[in-house]
Amino acid sequence: MSVKILSGHPVAEKHKQLIGKRIDLLKKENIVPTLAAILVGDDPASKIYVNTKHKIFTKHNCKSIVYEKNSVITESDLISFIDSLNLDSNIHGILVQLPLPKHLDEKKILSSIDPNKDVDGFHPINVGKILIGTPNFIPCTPYGCLEILKFYKINVRSKHVVILGRSNIVGKPLMALLSQKFEVGNATVTICHTGTPDLKLYTRIADIIIVAIGIPLFLKSNMVKNGVDIIDVGINRLKDDSKKGYRIVGDVDYEDIIGKVNSITPVPGGVGPMTITMLLSNTVLAAERKLLKET
Ligand code: GUN
Repeated sequence: MSVKILSGHPVAEKHKQLIGKRIDLLKKENIVPTLAAILVGDDPASKIYVNTKHKIFTKHNCKSIVYEKNSVITESDLISFIDSLNLDSNIHGILVQLPLPKHLDEKKILSSIDPNKDVDGFHPINVGKILIGTPNFIPCTPYGCLEILKFYKINVRSKHVVILGRSNIVGKPLMALLSQKFEVGNATVTICHTGTPDLKLYTRIADIIIVAIGIPLFLKSNMVKNGVDIIDVGINRLKDDSKKGYRIVGDVDYEDIIGKVNSITPVPGGVGPMTITMLLSNTVLAAERKLLKET
């Protein structure tokens, strides 16, 4: 049985072409889709993520404005700043890079973003809209996972999908999306987490496994059945003897599991390239909706 490697690059390229056409149409109306990205503190990984987003937006003729805020900023000052972006008609999308410093209440901060500029899809209204089957913005990483499944024609309908990890960013939205009657949906979904006593009981009967737990090389071959399809959302640094001193690995032990799978996303190069592409797509969507409202 040959293994299908689910690279995110061709999927991202296809989407970027489609998004590019939408950006051109907006340009004719003198609109440049613009993202405001707020980075609080100096977490090195968050800095890299925000800078990468900035580069991709610029490359695709969109604008990203990065606002760096000192880690000691108060909750009310940050919310006032977000309010000013909510009111700024030149800003189409607002993103607050997570995690935030501990003294800031993440829920309060995310709730202060205008739901129609919430291109991350983290506002409680947008989370609720996904749950009732009328998504406003689909969070970028789950969106990327769905588009990979669609592109490679991995059928999820009536399949048993096991999700490892119940985060607000990945696990919970995927659970809600995959279980509903969407184009990529109608699956039977099981969600496992740190409270699941014997994870193998579930992963061994899964047709598709999506892993988003942030534990390097966690999923091993003895935990899955033959012919499983795997989406690995993890991006972890694992120390090694290389020049860099580390290598990037997923939450799946790729080398160990590869002989048993039907298909698998690589890390790096799987879900990663899709996340920013879907952020671009959501920001363009926010700009299109604003234009429609005004005309
Ligand atoms: N931190 C990790 N993933 C994400 C994401 O998708 N959006 C934001 N804003 N922060 C993150």
